Amino acid sequence: MANDIKLRLPHLRPYAARLKNHWVWNAKSVLTPGQALRERVTGKVILLTGASSGIGEQLADRLADAGATLLLVARNRDKLDAIAHAIQQRGGKAAVYPADLTDLDACDRLCEQALQDHGRVDILINNAGRSIRRSIKFTYQRFHDYERTMQLNYLASIRLAMNLLPGMEARDDGHIINVSTVGVQANPARFSAYLASKWALEGWTWVAANEFAHTGVRFSSINYPLVRTPMIAPTKVYQYLPVMSPETAVDWMLDVIITQNKRKLGIFGKGALAMYYLLPKTSESIVNLSYQSIFEEPPANYVSSKARRGQAANSADRDAERYRG
Ligand SMILES: NC(=O)c1ccc[n+]([C@@H]2O[C@H](COP(=O)([O-])OP(=O)(O)OC[C@H]3O[C@@H](n4cnc5c(N)ncnc54)[C@H](OP(=O)(O)O)[C@@H]3O)[C@@H](O)[C@H]2O)c1
Repeated sequence: MANDIKLRLPHLRPYAARLKNHWVWNAKSVLTPGQALRERVTGKVILLTGASSGIGEQLADRLADAGATLLLVARNRDKLDAIAHAIQQRGGKAAVYPADLTDLDACDRLCEQALQDHGRVDILINNAGRSIRRSIKFTYQRFHDYERTMQLNYLASIRLAMNLLPGMEARDDGHIINVSTVGVQANPARFSAYLASKWALEGWTWVAANEFAHTGVRFSSINYPLVRTPMIAPTKVYQYLPVMSPETAVDWMLDVIITQNKRKLGIFGKGALAMYYLLPKTSESIVNLSYQSIFEEPPANYVSSKARRGQAANSADRDAERYRG
């Protein structure tokens, strides 16, 4: 009958090995991180997106120097070529796969080519990302803000995973690392489009981790705080804040590769999470106070709702007028 529930005995044995491995690799990551990294990645094929800039650019060097074969993905072929060339000059292995990941067919093509060239991908690092900093009230005429962030941060990452997971599952070995942000815990104002896409990515990651827990395929998410890279350069206020260096961001990633822990979250993220659950209204008020305190430049093509529809001016119109005036 169609509605019958069919039960089967779950595999229990992998849990013991997992638990042991968890403690062994976490100890190694503290005691001998360099050696542990080499053990984890030597001879492994790693597909790294967002390899042309910021965190990805420095990460590529560190992983290649530790003995991995790097498949470098981004749009800027010249930059990828330069990074691969430098790695090869030092005796490392790297190949470039330029692609615009917002084109899902391009994601398929690059995976097909990578598998054809290297036979497998052991570790997928979904690091390419796009951030948009804009109040919701300034996005009423900019639905594409939501589409653009979802397309790259969420859909492209999942599309790559869909191409590479079958091989990992068949080999009972693999690791998918999805790069997220501490904004998912802190919910800062003005990042609705960016954070929604990272929440989606994390949601997928946690379900995947639960489904594959009895296999050799692991899933991790990293919640970076602000990192000094080209991504945050356009926001002037960040120049005055103490932010993480790209070197430390790379160390976080290497730690996740070694330990295969599910989440990497710093003290600020843990504090924000505690506030969110223990004092939800206080946490909302703190974020809102900081939101109100900082003026926001309206988008260049912003047209007030008064001019568009003859409606009374709303708060976005008033802010835009005051900003321009
Ligand atoms: N910087 C921070 O404060 C911060 C904080 C939390 C989380 N993160 C996350 O960390 C990751 C790395 O960020 P980052 O700071 O290193 O940023 P970044 O320096 O701006 O680098 C972004 C990378 O993504 C690539 N990329 C952008 N659009 C692409 C597309 N359509 N197709 C293929 N590749 C594309 C870029 O290469 P091309 O331009 O050559 O395509 C570049 O290599 C992102 O996922 C970001 O969300 C960053």
